[in-house]
Amino acid sequence: MTEGKNRQWILNARPASKMTGEEFRWNEASIPKPSDGQVLVRNLWLSFDPAQRVWMSRDSYMPKVPLGDVMRSLAVGQVLESRRPDLKLGDIVRGSFGWQDYAATDGKSFFGIHKLPPGLPPNLALSLFGLNGLTAYFGITEIGQVKAGETVVVSGAAGATGSIAGQIAKIKGSRVIGTAGGKEKCDWLVKEAHFDAAIDYKNEKVGEALTRHCPKGIDVYFDNVGGDILDAALARLARGARVVICGAISQYNNEGPFRGPSNYMSLLVNRARMEGFVVIDYMSRYPEAMAEMAGWIADGRLITREDAIEGFERFPEALQALFKGENVGKLVLKVADE
Ligand SMILES: NC(=O)c1ccc[n+]([C@@H]2O[C@H](COP(=O)([O-])OP(=O)(O)OC[C@H]3O[C@@H](n4cnc5c(N)ncnc54)[C@H](OP(=O)(O)O)[C@@H]3O)[C@@H](O)[C@H]2O)c1
Repeated sequence: MTEGKNRQWILNARPASKMTGEEFRWNEASIPKPSDGQVLVRNLWLSFDPAQRVWMSRDSYMPKVPLGDVMRSLAVGQVLESRRPDLKLGDIVRGSFGWQDYAATDGKSFFGIHKLPPGLPPNLALSLFGLNGLTAYFGITEIGQVKAGETVVVSGAAGATGSIAGQIAKIKGSRVIGTAGGKEKCDWLVKEAHFDAAIDYKNEKVGEALTRHCPKGIDVYFDNVGGDILDAALARLARGARVVICGAISQYNNEGPFRGPSNYMSLLVNRARMEGFVVIDYMSRYPEAMAEMAGWIADGRLITREDAIEGFERFPEALQALFKGENVGKLVLKVADE
């Protein structure tokens, strides 16, 4: 624990396009005091999410981070002091606690504050039982409405969300094809993460590979990346297909507007539907999803993978790793021991 100091990364400038790391400024503040209704949390693990790049420069489903504020980040932390009746010293909680050692918070952010069940490994609270697993769960079951026998394509498939989405689609009885960058990720998807096939979008022609792997078309396309891969999938939809708009990481570094799909008339031709969603809208149903996923983990049908790094000074560099495809599974940073 850092004696008397709260290390922070402050958002100092908005990126023009690609991040350089220069957008952040190191700061050392004093440890905050919680007021009535707040808790003081010491961060244990922090989450890296592509959405953070969006929060740095644009208003989206939540406002962009104001310049001069601590960078917004989901985190798991331990309660050091509580002025709320529902939380006590030692509780492990998840919330939006920011790139810093300590946060005094009332939990009234978009993500709320959630007490974790005893025994749950804190890092899993950011991956499988965090936004990624929950996004995968509700995206596949509620928006994708995946059914047995269908053909499902997942982009960004070796990442935190995509790897779980594909496995859940498989558990639901579908055939699952993933797209990911590089042979190593594609091998992992097929050999370990239960995918039926994987397309290395950096070395293969995605459209041709999709035609080969999906001879009857794509029933559900779970999109994490947008851009060319979205267009290639739209061109190969089956009748009545569902396109799940989970994210569009290929567009987040764009200086101007995000590039939209050009093959959208395929939705008309194929009587298909394209629908976006934000996982926090399902907050009241997180326990149901967590219980079901815990069962799949226990019976071996669902695996998770994490890229855990250490070093508080590495935040700006680590966020860029997501955009270079350096992570497999969930990228998290360990800040402190429990
Ligand atoms: N709707 C929601 O509520 C919600 C919630 C959480 C996340 N999301 C979205 O889900 C998506 C995945 O997020 P995640 O946290 O699971 O991240 P992640 O997939 O673990 O990491 C990002 C991955 O994206 C791939 N990538 C980076 N640049 C790319 C590009 N230009 N084209 C294609 N792929 C690229 C990289 O893998 P490769 O090596 O394969 O390129 C990288 O490893 C993001 O779009 C995110 O915004 C949405």
